[in-house]
Amino acid sequence: MRIRPRRLRQTPAVRRLVRQTRLHAAELVLPMFVHEGDEPRPIASMPGMVQHSLDSFRGALAEAAGARVGGVMLFGVPSRRDATGTGATDPDGILNRATEIAAAEVGDALVVQTDLCLDEFTDHGHCGVLDADGRIDNDATLVRYAEMALAQARAGSALLGLSGMMDGQVAHVRDALDAEGFTDVALLGYAAKYASAYYGPFREAVDSQLSGDRRTYQLDAGNRREGRREAELDAAEGADVVMVKPASSYLDVLADVARTSEVPVWAYQVSGEYAMVEAAAAQGWLDREAVIAESVLAIRRAGADAVLTYWATELAQRLTTEEL
Ligand code: PBG
Repeated sequence: MRIRPRRLRQTPAVRRLVRQTRLHAAELVLPMFVHEGDEPRPIASMPGMVQHSLDSFRGALAEAAGARVGGVMLFGVPSRRDATGTGATDPDGILNRATEIAAAEVGDALVVQTDLCLDEFTDHGHCGVLDADGRIDNDATLVRYAEMALAQARAGSALLGLSGMMDGQVAHVRDALDAEGFTDVALLGYAAKYASAYYGPFREAVDSQLSGDRRTYQLDAGNRREGRREAELDAAEGADVVMVKPASSYLDVLADVARTSEVPVWAYQVSGEYAMVEAAAAQGWLDREAVIAESVLAIRRAGADAVLTYWATELAQRLTTEEL
């Protein structure tokens, strides 16, 4: 036998030399939740994660920056909500205040990013505004997204994560930003965002008011081709980065998008992916640290240039002493 693939697996040194994919702190983005209360509030279905107070938020930002993560993605949890999500465009709204703080405190060390979507701010919990019949009004929602984009850009966000899945959102927001001179604010299109039960814990994380589902705007889990189509559309509309979400159950879509995309491709390891590992590890059923590293490595191997993960700071800290 001349061909022995095991030859390159014989020692830690040779395995290290031939590994194709590695994790780097710079490619990890930490999603963070900020609420209006004075104390951080634990999120029961995401053990270890909290809705931050502005104070604990400052601490977590410093920790993330100290670990040299690539960025943070901010979500606001407002205490008051209404039909059109006014809190999203209020410069004193919780997300815009948190953004100002992050930009001032860690804006030079990492990329401060904001979720651009109405669902945390609406009393019905949908990502858009509703028409008289209670249906999502795509084009009226674009007007709100443009206003929200300007508020976030003024607060100092460097990259806006368009997660609402309205048609035309990237082009509309790009035009609105450019018209006001915010030509350097980047756009992340949540291009292939699937209607997923893996977002379950996130709904608790943002006190979601949603009844029903998001199936008229997020992609159907059975559709592979559509993921790539959405990514191409977003890039054509001017997205600087495109996203696939969730990650682990959609690695085929991620690989498709990564193969042809001309802009960076990111993936979001979502709340349910986090919760499953934490729950199994708490039972002693999985090796927590090993599974965390393997799960993020797999997402990178499938083609993600960067990964949004709730373990970003923890992984980045491990990477200062360990190769993964
Ligand atoms: C919508 C949004 C959601 C997530 C990120 N942005 C929820 C949804 O679409 O229902 C989910 C993230 C996660 O589950 O970790 N603003």
